[in-house]
Amino acid sequence: MRSPDCLAATGATKVRADFPLTRVPPMSSLVRTVLQDGIVLIIVENPPVNALSVGVPDGIMAALAEGAADPQVGGFVLLGGGRTFIAGADIREFGKPRPPGAKTIFDLIAALEASPKPVVAAIHGTALGGGLEVALACHWRVGVKGSQYGLPEVKLGILPGAGGTQRLPRLIGLEPAARLIVSGEFVPAEKALALGIVDQLAEGEPADAGAAFARQVVAEDRPLRRIRDMADKLAVPDGLFEELRRSIARSGRGQVAPWRCIDCVEAAATLPFDQGLRRERELFEECLASPQSKALRHFFFAEREAAKIPDVPKDTPVTPVRKAAVIGAGTMGGGIAMSFANAGIPVTLVETAAEALDRGIGTIRANYARTVASGRLPQAAMDRAMAQLSGTLDLAAIADADIVVEAVFEDMAVKKDLFRRIDGIAKAGAMLATNTSTLDVDEIAAATGRPEKVIGTHFFSPANVMKLLEVVRGAKTDRPTIASTMALARPLKKVAVLVGVCDGFVGNRMLAGYMQQALFLLEEGALPQDVDRAIQDFGFAMGPFAMMDLAGNDVEWRIRKHREKTNPPPSNRRRSRLPDLICEQGRFGQKTRAGWYRYEPGDRTPHPDPAIEALIVENSRADGIVRREIGAAEIVQRCLLPLINEGAKILDEGLALRPGDIDVIWVYGYGFPAYKGGPMFHADQLGLPEVLAQLLRLEGEQGSFWTPSPLLVRLAEAGRGFSSLKAG
Ligand code: CAA
Repeated sequence: MRSPDCLAATGATKVRADFPLTRVPPMSSLVRTVLQDGIVLIIVENPPVNALSVGVPDGIMAALAEGAADPQVGGFVLLGGGRTFIAGADIREFGKPRPPGAKTIFDLIAALEASPKPVVAAIHGTALGGGLEVALACHWRVGVKGSQYGLPEVKLGILPGAGGTQRLPRLIGLEPAARLIVSGEFVPAEKALALGIVDQLAEGEPADAGAAFARQVVAEDRPLRRIRDMADKLAVPDGLFEELRRSIARSGRGQVAPWRCIDCVEAAATLPFDQGLRRERELFEECLASPQSKALRHFFFAEREAAKIPDVPKDTPVTPVRKAAVIGAGTMGGGIAMSFANAGIPVTLVETAAEALDRGIGTIRANYARTVASGRLPQAAMDRAMAQLSGTLDLAAIADADIVVEAVFEDMAVKKDLFRRIDGIAKAGAMLATNTSTLDVDEIAAATGRPEKVIGTHFFSPANVMKLLEVVRGAKTDRPTIASTMALARPLKKVAVLVGVCDGFVGNRMLAGYMQQALFLLEEGALPQDVDRAIQDFGFAMGPFAMMDLAGNDVEWRIRKHREKTNPPPSNRRRSRLPDLICEQGRFGQKTRAGWYRYEPGDRTPHPDPAIEALIVENSRADGIVRREIGAAEIVQRCLLPLINEGAKILDEGLALRPGDIDVIWVYGYGFPAYKGGPMFHADQLGLPEVLAQLLRLEGEQGSFWTPSPLLVRLAEAGRGFSSLKAG
């Protein structure tokens, strides 16, 4: 309890370690205290993020109780040791029984608020969720520069259940509070000060700033400021809740928690404080027990797990990328270059012809300008990003890049030739990355004299927006190259998932079966809008046909034609002609204002097109298929089962490390609803015996496309789920 060295982490000075806090029981090694000129610093030491795990509330409460009884103590400062204040409840403990007698966050919050002596929260790093709720129960809050604030519970399918929905509106007003709670967004310290979340913004160490504030409060004998007693900011702006509910209907489609968040804030406006707290608690429990919250919590940890590679230990040397080169200024290359520029990493874009280079850089400039015009990006940020970007026709310019990303046309001969040349120019130790989405990374690597430095970086289009980065490990890729490429995801604001080499890697390999079934459904009786509606109602951001129109139907068409020459599929395999037919009509999608849908000029809304219906019906007739009514449930089943089955094959072949990695790929790369956890988590929720039964039935009706993966059979027969698999 008394060890002054705990302050090393927070940098506090003037430590007096001789204060005998002997009455505080050694209840928790997770909280330490230090007396400093009449103020007790209560320091949470629960790395990595000081979550409110079992023991933390007990430790803080014991320190409060002892300090309250001691005349030498004038007040308290609550802070976090290490890199952050409290980042929330311990998500790993949700739904688990607590040890008997252990104090809860609710006990802690009541004790903080009721403390007869002032308590000041001194915040650095992040005050999130339960962490911010604890800070709101303190009488004042001091934030240091760089700190961030938020109630991100909605992203876990729950709501701030420890008084956040009742206290924040009382502190900063209903509207800003509701927007923060419903969006789960973080706000930086300066904005937190402007909103009134913190009372003071300080430079330097939180312990010093908090202690100085507390001493002043004590010296002035300032009346304690308890948020529960505030009521002057609870007036409801006209139409606020209606407007919030309307916007949730769009942005939170299919989700429960955002609605419950609004209900809680409304309760803050209409109910006395304690009743509001009870309402919040009821709705919190409802959300916590929901399948959506279970899925979102799975996803939270899956995303973090994906960064861990069993045979690439944490201490593997990582080369930070200080300079990048991207070869190819097309759509993908341009988007990748923007990702580097956004991260403040100087990037050289290399092309073979001046016209292509000018067009590429022009597109990048126009993309930024559009975002600036929409108010989502300050002009200064655009200028900063553009200043990182240079273009050249001289491949020699890649010589000093730490990473070279190739993003040229999907042609093996072209790529091999290019890698041979890159090998002759790039500096020793540089990562040589290919953005191929279909070609064999090992074959590309073999064209160089350093295959251990060659790796796949499969960005998703638009590369400057999409969060997913599939990192493709070749047979010879060395560990530092893997570790460095995975680490690059953080500055690029991407989520990297390591996959092995196979046709389509993980995401697109799974996509193939999903798309194929979507097309067969058209042949059998559905229309694009039927399939898209069913898939969107399931929760996907977009249905397969709208997605194809967005990506450009011609892209796959070109790849298909190329493959038919180089690697033709077996002639007896069922294959739909429809995508070729629409491309032959020049219906490339949004860019030609016609694809699976038609589009009005300047509008991306897909409109069902009678010409497409006629084409589909005629195609079925020509193939002798009697069209039938196909319901949403069948559509969802036919599209999702191939994902699950292919995902199982991928796991069996060791091409993805864990089922959770596949979930991350599908949520961030293909718009699978995070609140359903991803395809593999979803399969576990359906139950693998049920999934197996459905596959076997379809196999009986339609043949070997549906033959279940051996892994799926083994797991289902053993009564296990994908979640029981260990990484590697
Ligand atoms: N509970 C348990 N573990 C947590 C955690 C939490 N609240 N927050 C983070 N962690 C763990 C992560 O799983 C990760 O563990 P591993 O190293 O074993 O993978 C580790 O802490 C570091 O996390 P990140 O890799 O995410 O680190 P970061 O520096 O990129 O981000 C962060 C830090 C901003 C705090 C981020 O972790 C985050 O957003 N955490 C979640 C915050 C949150 O949602 N809080 C609300 C919790 S719910 C709640 O509080 C309910 C309530 O109202 C009572």
